[in-house]
Amino acid sequence: MTEENGPHSESVYFDLQASWGVTKHIGDRQATRELAAQCDVNRESYVLIIGCGVGVAACYLAEQHGCRVMGIDISQRMVDRSTERAKKKGLQDRVEFRCADAQSLPFGDSLFDVVFCESVNAFIPDQRKAMAEYVRVLNAGGYVGLNECVWVETPPAELVDYLERAMGAEFFPAHEGWKAMMEQAGLGPVSETIHTTSAVRQWANEVREIDPRDMAMAYLSFPVECIRNPACRRFVKDTMRLPRSIFRMFRYFGYGLYVGRKPRRVAAAS
Ligand SMILES: C[S@@+](CC[C@H](N)C(=O)[O-])C[C@H]1O[C@@H](n2cnc3c(N)ncnc32)[C@H](O)[C@@H]1O
Repeated sequence: MTEENGPHSESVYFDLQASWGVTKHIGDRQATRELAAQCDVNRESYVLIIGCGVGVAACYLAEQHGCRVMGIDISQRMVDRSTERAKKKGLQDRVEFRCADAQSLPFGDSLFDVVFCESVNAFIPDQRKAMAEYVRVLNAGGYVGLNECVWVETPPAELVDYLERAMGAEFFPAHEGWKAMMEQAGLGPVSETIHTTSAVRQWANEVREIDPRDMAMAYLSFPVECIRNPACRRFVKDTMRLPRSIFRMFRYFGYGLYVGRKPRRVAAAS
């Protein structure tokens, strides 16, 4: 599927990340590992990763657990990056990517054992529709695992406004919001584990994941992109207006791991 005839992303924030070869979620590798354990990802699992970004978690799960992975992302550039990564790692036989919108998944019912999603739902306009899609494509007894940003303390309005402006995220619901949304979509009792982190820990984790060649390319291509693309210039101008609270942002938000299971069919009465 191409961006001409399929879903597409209009986010400068994600377009830049795709060109740099970097996407992120709070908690990084440690969060991915913990969420995979809670979703019982194993050699037999067929895992659907929603909003796969540049494919880091998809390749990690396939390498660590030997599972099959399908990753989808609304941005074709992210899909291309992910495909490149899987190829470089020799994982093409187990890992595949497609350009698709989480709100309308191009798969039949009951196909996957795990739907895995890190730092994506906050960016989706109709989160309930997406959640219903996750449940639809999941096998009975399968897991939906989400890693989402959550406010852990009431944030100053200037910080909420800044993050919405910079990242295009509509809102980070309070943590009960994600849990309730999953249960309303028909998942069984949803477990919730809230973590906080620090700017230094988060930054160190992110840097560890970046390929130095991608980093060099990012430094070279960014000024060119800013000259070429007015939307990019507007984005930079907007995001340079930092609120003071940005330096304390990890006091206000952390990440929550949420795991729920699709109920098995109730046996028909004889
Ligand atoms: C913050 S990044 C996280 C990427 C990846 N999960 C990671 O942790 O590195 C969010 C990703 O979600 C994708 N995305 C946003 N809206 C989407 C949608 N409606 N359907 C599928 N992917 C979407 C973006 O293109 C981006 O790659």
